[in-house]
Amino acid sequence: MKVLVIGGGAREHALCRSLSLDSDVNALYCAPGNAGIAEVAELRPVDQLDGEAVARLATELRADLVVVGPEAPLVAGVADAVRAVGIPVFGPSGEAAQLEGSKAFAKDVMAAAGVPTARSYVCTTPEEVDEALDAFGAPYVVKDDGLAAGKGVVVTDDRAAAREHALRCDRVVIEEFLDGPEVSLFAITDGVTVLPLQPAQDFKRALDGDAGPNTGGMGAYSPLPWGDPKLVDEVMASVLQPTVDELRHRGTPFSGLLYAGLAITSRGVRVIEFNARFGDPETQVVLARLRTPLASVLLGSANGTLDTLPPLSWREDAAVTVVIASHNYPETPRTGDPITGLAEVAELDAPYAYVLHAGTRTEGDAVVSAGGRVLSVTATGSDLAEARDRAYKAVARIGLDGSQYRTDIAAKAAEQR
Ligand code: AMP
Ligand code: GLY
Repeated sequence: MKVLVIGGGAREHALCRSLSLDSDVNALYCAPGNAGIAEVAELRPVDQLDGEAVARLATELRADLVVVGPEAPLVAGVADAVRAVGIPVFGPSGEAAQLEGSKAFAKDVMAAAGVPTARSYVCTTPEEVDEALDAFGAPYVVKDDGLAAGKGVVVTDDRAAAREHALRCDRVVIEEFLDGPEVSLFAITDGVTVLPLQPAQDFKRALDGDAGPNTGGMGAYSPLPWGDPKLVDEVMASVLQPTVDELRHRGTPFSGLLYAGLAITSRGVRVIEFNARFGDPETQVVLARLRTPLASVLLGSANGTLDTLPPLSWREDAAVTVVIASHNYPETPRTGDPITGLAEVAELDAPYAYVLHAGTRTEGDAVVSAGGRVLSVTATGSDLAEARDRAYKAVARIGLDGSQYRTDIAAKAAEQR
């Protein structure tokens, strides 16, 4: 099978790594990719948001499967353009990707499907904003309706700050605050059959102890030793299957990856958000634990044949990933800094720990930072404590001027074992 992956972050590196280890895959391309992905896939330049260009590239490469990684191309309809030339695609249509692209659309689908989520108002005027803020009280949760790369959400006790954020957005969702730990649960679906993956937890705040601003994600781990063993079944029944069914009944079937961001509250599980693609950095730990070869599962989603596949098989191992971010991430990340230590990790820590590239490029012989999140250092172990030790040992070998990482990824969960 020839596979083309669209994107160039750590999620795509994780996807390409798994696909490169799959004996069904005999040619692997990534467009545009990054310096790390170049080690496992052949890179091609492409404008990820240009559906015609992606479809042309897929045709040229005679791809049997195109995997669209990030949300922006999905919302832009890139999967539709590739499907239109007759090539199977892993990823939802532009219409179905509105589940991530519009918080208001997602709320409407959840209401229709009876999926538990925070009560909310959609506001477009200052009067509506004031009313909604007062209806819920502090802490205030204010979400830009559109795509914002994980940075459109403000959670604060400060009413003035909440109001200011709301008025900066054209359309805003203001909702009830959900208390309780967060879990990310992914499912692969073909629009009918839903295959849940293993739950993971990610760390959204920039600094240790969940301090600092929201980011795209600073680290993740899986499994969740503190989690209820029935969680996956419960979320399948109350969230994933009803959402997939509702979208199919609306005539906008959702195939690809359905990401449920959940809060485990004292009143039960609530959906915080849906995403229409693999989450980053949770993908790095979930795929590290998946034993089933990946290509057949992604193709089953693309072809509508998931019901014919054997159940997914998982390793006993735990996995931890630690994100190394650039100087001043997330505000004004600095790029172009040289990265050292990559060869040492490959030599000394493989196969238990490895570096997935998030935002990197090559400059002559050097690998330099090219984004806010730069590397996602991933490790496996017999339990979280071992995976964590291995990940941080590898992190310590990496040099990147001014960079930052959290030191407490999976720390609490590792102690609970
Ligand atoms: P989102 O982009 O919707 O995932 O929101 C980003 C982060 O904001 C989430 O991971 C939560 O930590 C926080 N958040 C979003 N919605 C709520 C809510 N209703 N209650 C509490 N925290 C929330
Ligand atoms: N880990 C958060 C996200 O992918 O949106």
